Amino acid sequence: MAPTDMLPKILVVDDDRHTRLLLDRLLPKTALVSLATDGAEARQLFAAEDFNLVLMDQRLPGDNGIDLLREFRARRPHLVGILMTGFADVRDAVAAVREGVFDYLTKPFEDLEALEAVIGKALELDRAYREIHGLRARLASESDAPAFIGQSPAMERVLGQIRQVAGLDTTVLLEGESGTGKELAAKLIHSLSARATNLFLEVNCGGLPETLLESLLFGYEKGAFTGANQANAGYFEKAHKGTLFLDEIADMSPKLQSSLLRVLQDHSFTRIGSTQPRQADFRLICATNRPLLAEVKAGRFREDLYYRIAVVSVTMPPLRERTGDIVPLAAHFLDFYSTKFGKTCGPLTPAALQALESCRWEGNVRQLQHCIERAVALHASGPIDTLHLFPTGDPSTDAPLTEETAVAALRYQDARADFEREYFLRLLDAAGGNVSEAARLSGIPRQNLYVRTKRWGIVTDK
Ligand SMILES: Nc1ncnc2c1ncn2[C@@H]1O[C@H](COP(=O)(O)OP(=O)(O)OP(=O)(O)O)[C@@H](O)[C@H]1O
Ligand SMILES: [Mg+2]
Repeated sequence: MAPTDMLPKILVVDDDRHTRLLLDRLLPKTALVSLATDGAEARQLFAAEDFNLVLMDQRLPGDNGIDLLREFRARRPHLVGILMTGFADVRDAVAAVREGVFDYLTKPFEDLEALEAVIGKALELDRAYREIHGLRARLASESDAPAFIGQSPAMERVLGQIRQVAGLDTTVLLEGESGTGKELAAKLIHSLSARATNLFLEVNCGGLPETLLESLLFGYEKGAFTGANQANAGYFEKAHKGTLFLDEIADMSPKLQSSLLRVLQDHSFTRIGSTQPRQADFRLICATNRPLLAEVKAGRFREDLYYRIAVVSVTMPPLRERTGDIVPLAAHFLDFYSTKFGKTCGPLTPAALQALESCRWEGNVRQLQHCIERAVALHASGPIDTLHLFPTGDPSTDAPLTEETAVAALRYQDARADFEREYFLRLLDAAGGNVSEAARLSGIPRQNLYVRTKRWGIVTDK
């Protein structure tokens, strides 16, 4: 049994006894529920407890539920509030949702399952907010470790591994699809290690020609090659006492693979154009989005180097296999970009949360991050809905296509083409297939009409 201070606390404010009793029965058994019958009682309870969720009746004796929620939110901006309203007041409720109330429920409650689902989602959002703020506070006080969101069991495991290896100073290989957070994980390992106060240097082995990568890593002496006008230390040297992160290691050429192997054997190397051996104490972290063992089997990556760098290997799971992280990540990015762009966007509506959760995220966390960034950039303020997240229903984002997004997704040209084709078909039908008659009926010059109908394959040259 979890300690009681871990259980979600829910405040129900309603003057109607039946609603209070019904909700008390319906709310998760694991929640601590407080019941208030009016504004005064609600204020008192709210001041004394840090509630995870407030379910607020719209019409209270002497108080308006919307105003009361606004008052509460002014004190706790991330408060997740749900408004309960009679059918007659739905318009106000919608306006309240625009101001940041999570959702509204109409009374009498008919669909109890839907009600439970909304409450579940609201509590999930609250957990996400809390995790992020807890994390920020911890980070602000302890170190400058990057905010690394992950509460799914899969990510908990990964974080456990990261914490464990961070202090060990071993070489780490990070594997996982593009956008799963390998680079962020490398930075986290560095910042949790004893090397945290020294440099973290990264090189993308995939993006550079072999000779350039070589001179970047090994450094060179003056005159070592054309253009080497002065001596330059390489990353092996610069990362002394710090961490060297080699990204896209699978793309390293065979020649550099063997040079790297030699360096790793005794941490000594020579600059290009020099014979003087140098030593450097760097910790190596490598990343790849192609499984490296498969590259070894295919003969593209040296087996001996593989075993040197894969002393510990950590695999970042794709986002679609840890859907529990989607909402916390979305809330994190929403907060981040709202602050960055100086806006007050949010919260995410229940429909938006659902859409985010049902997306496949082939581009993983990076794709989710861009999706939220774009929504915040284009949105003035207030709640973020499905359409803000997936304005075009772009199939490359694999966004779920609802009827609304499908309409928005249709390109203007395509919509016009559909319309034209349909129009000319009907026109010719009405004119009995006679183009001159169709021209007369429509007022479109005959030649013009002929060209267009031909384009749509409606009339063909005989
Ligand atoms: N767990 C996480 N918490 C917060 N932000 C994350 C998390 N994972 C990834 N991100 C963010 O997502 C983006 C992509 O992550 P990152 O660059 O680390 O991915 P990657 O695995 O290195 O991708 P690639 O293989 O394409 O280089 C970054 O902006 C990163 O900050
Ligand atoms: Mg990367």
